[in-house]
Amino acid sequence: MRKIIIDTDPGQDDAVAILLAFASPEDIEVLGITAVAGNVPLPLTSKNARIVCELAGRPDARVFAGCDAPLSRKLVTAEHVHGKTGLDGPSLPDPTMSLAEGHAVDFIIDTLRTEPAGTVTLCPLGPLTNIATALQKAPDIAGLIQEIVLMGGAYFEVGNITPTAEFNIYVDPEAADIVMKSGVKLTIVPLDVTHKALVTKARNDAFRALGTPVGVAVAQMTDFFERFDKEKYGSEGAPLHDPCVIAYLLQPDLFTGRFVNVEIETQSPLTLGMTVADWWGVTSRPRNATFLGDLDAQGFFDLLTSRLGRL
Ligand code: BDR
Ligand code: CA
Repeated sequence: MRKIIIDTDPGQDDAVAILLAFASPEDIEVLGITAVAGNVPLPLTSKNARIVCELAGRPDARVFAGCDAPLSRKLVTAEHVHGKTGLDGPSLPDPTMSLAEGHAVDFIIDTLRTEPAGTVTLCPLGPLTNIATALQKAPDIAGLIQEIVLMGGAYFEVGNITPTAEFNIYVDPEAADIVMKSGVKLTIVPLDVTHKALVTKARNDAFRALGTPVGVAVAQMTDFFERFDKEKYGSEGAPLHDPCVIAYLLQPDLFTGRFVNVEIETQSPLTLGMTVADWWGVTSRPRNATFLGDLDAQGFFDLLTSRLGRL
């Protein structure tokens, strides 16, 4: 059983990740959800997170609002991918649950200090602003975190927001740099993995065939992505990035990767936000992260679809 905090910027794929976590109570306990600005501004991500909790039948979950802008840069958003609301596709009711009191960063710090050391995993699915702010404000928490399993970055697949940078890292490269240098056990789920998690027509149909409000909403969310992606990339289906993080916790044998040095480019205008992973071990820089590289895609979708069927 893993106790986790999901740090997120929903985002349709974030939403599916949250649903997968809630659908897996025997493996995962969601201590709280912390919203961050990313795909859309904070008022929308913190609202969308609550919409998803209610869709999952979990209005009791705690959703905290966090940082509304990167550490030192102007926020870059991705409405061109996720739509105006960040959760375009299904039409879901506005949430009735309120935001939990307090700032997401304080919730992260307090939780890590309250729970036994080494028992809480952080799952960032958006820019790393909340996590880096918590590490800066309370450096002692680095020694308390069990692991950070994050979606971000790329190696062979390079970038999706610039030619060399993945969105979550690009939005707040300074925050990503802090996390990479934190000394915390890190597992990175990059585009190299998530670009294999493609929602084909058959996989989308399988969500809809669940016949539940969750199944139908997930089908509508991934349909929305598909339209965007086909236009841009002409792939056989859109990548479902963020649920890969939760699937890694549930079934790590679906993934392979390497323990390598990973550093973040924070200076160059050309390659800002690039995750420089020393995949071939050509430097003597210290290894700091497990960088995943491959995924059993069908195994991932089988797991995801069957778990979503429980909600
Ligand atoms: C990441 O960026 C966001 O648009 C998605 O939600 C995902 O977390 C993929 O680059
Ligand atoms: Ca996200």
